[in-house]
Amino acid sequence: MLVELDRESSLPLYLQISNQIRERIHTGDLPAGTKLPPERRLAAMLGVNRTTIVTAYRELAADGLIEGHVGRGTVVADPDPDSSDAHGLHQIPWNQLFTSTTEVMNDPLIRDTTMISSRPDVISLATGIPSPELYPIELIRGLLDEALHHGGQALLQHCPTEGYEPLRSALGTWMAGEGRPVDPENVLVVAGSQQGLYLLARTLLDPGDLVVIESPTYLGALQVFRAAGARLLPIPVDSAGMRVGMLEDLLARRRPKLIYTLPSFQNPSGATLSLDRRRRLLDLAERYRVPVIEDDPYSVLRYEGPTLPTLYDLDSRGTVIYLSTLSKILFPGFRIGWVAGPNPVIKRLALMKQIVDLDTNPLAQWAVWALLDRGHLRTHVADLQSIYPYRRDLMLDALERHATGLLEWNRPPGGFYIWAKLLDGLRTRDLLPEAARYGVSVAPGESFHVDGEGDSTLRLNFTLPTTDEIEQAIYRLAASIDSLRSARGSGDMRALEAATPIV
Ligand SMILES: Cc1ncc(COP(=O)(O)O)c(C=O)c1O
Repeated sequence: MLVELDRESSLPLYLQISNQIRERIHTGDLPAGTKLPPERRLAAMLGVNRTTIVTAYRELAADGLIEGHVGRGTVVADPDPDSSDAHGLHQIPWNQLFTSTTEVMNDPLIRDTTMISSRPDVISLATGIPSPELYPIELIRGLLDEALHHGGQALLQHCPTEGYEPLRSALGTWMAGEGRPVDPENVLVVAGSQQGLYLLARTLLDPGDLVVIESPTYLGALQVFRAAGARLLPIPVDSAGMRVGMLEDLLARRRPKLIYTLPSFQNPSGATLSLDRRRRLLDLAERYRVPVIEDDPYSVLRYEGPTLPTLYDLDSRGTVIYLSTLSKILFPGFRIGWVAGPNPVIKRLALMKQIVDLDTNPLAQWAVWALLDRGHLRTHVADLQSIYPYRRDLMLDALERHATGLLEWNRPPGGFYIWAKLLDGLRTRDLLPEAARYGVSVAPGESFHVDGEGDSTLRLNFTLPTTDEIEQAIYRLAASIDSLRSARGSGDMRALEAATPIV
């Protein structure tokens, strides 16, 4: 058999296929000129979708390992002549040296979306960042001037790995709102919550450990868990968040090591876990003694309806490790996030952080402390709470006018994203090149799933595009869906794919 698939593995099937073929090419098992099975046949042999094989072959072709020839099919390519220099000496075969961990980051769908989104003629609804025109630049300039003037030397040295003490304390107060502040001993400042996730995975997971995740869930978490060699147990999300009713069975039968959840205005679906489900989730986690990672960048960006307590607020037994960030309510460039949890966890994470980067940028920590301490962040968030729902409603209105009958979508009461679904069985990966041709990009929902689900879903960000761009972007999106529909009607999907090569 050319390839053996492990359906229990968290590594996507196409990567398992491309990795194994790559390995056999490198070992000489498949020499140059070897004919590979046609996509459709290999798909039937392995019992997978044809697009899985197309994606795997695309990966290998992008690395120059295979090539397609009209009439000859797909064959193993001749070795790259550039791999030896003018003296015939061989250069280092980098592709053979990279670890399998880096392979999991190599999602062509994401790579294509990122490439398309950065084109100047494209309005990106794919990116999940706050609007740069709202960054409080003057305020930050003043704070950095002040910091360098008064504390310059100290703030340009190292600081404790756990974080600048006043900031740990201010974050504890910020989290608690009107309640009792979280003790600074329970707070670790990290270089963005992505680093917090990485540290948690490195500290709590061994290869093969099971992690309960939501389906869909945050792409960056999938990448971290996959890189840690974890096996993922997806639980579907509906409009009230994770379907907690399905959790007990998994906890009892599979004994997972962790539960990872985004209870508030989830990325990507915008769903929020109901209070009832929050209590039930916590109760189950306590009963089965499984820690919960609560990833919460968005809960303060609530635009309507009553505020819900976080899982961390509801937890009285130290079951929840909380993660948040300034990236969505200020800007991502300072790279300041934090983890809150039981002190032994914080201490162990700090040891791991020491290996990774020693400490987080002290100047940025000081500026964030000042923003919190002087109430600026509160005011800034209040501004966002009046601007973003306006943008969301503009997008909903534009969807109503242009995309009725083409898409279904939700109305999130907070956060950054509208979650949509293409009708009539159209797939988002087919839409992406067509949307690019019309000058718009969206985040493909498939990339937020691990189980091959969600291929007709897409995530639309409403915070980054300006008000003018929102109308234009939805108009273009609807036109591209229309065009995709017509192409399907005429059986001309191939011509359409060829029109805009995105790989
Ligand atoms: C759910 C979630 N967690 C973590 C992050 C990472 O944020 P940061 O910029 O703090 O690393 C993001 C950013 O998109 C996110 O949506």
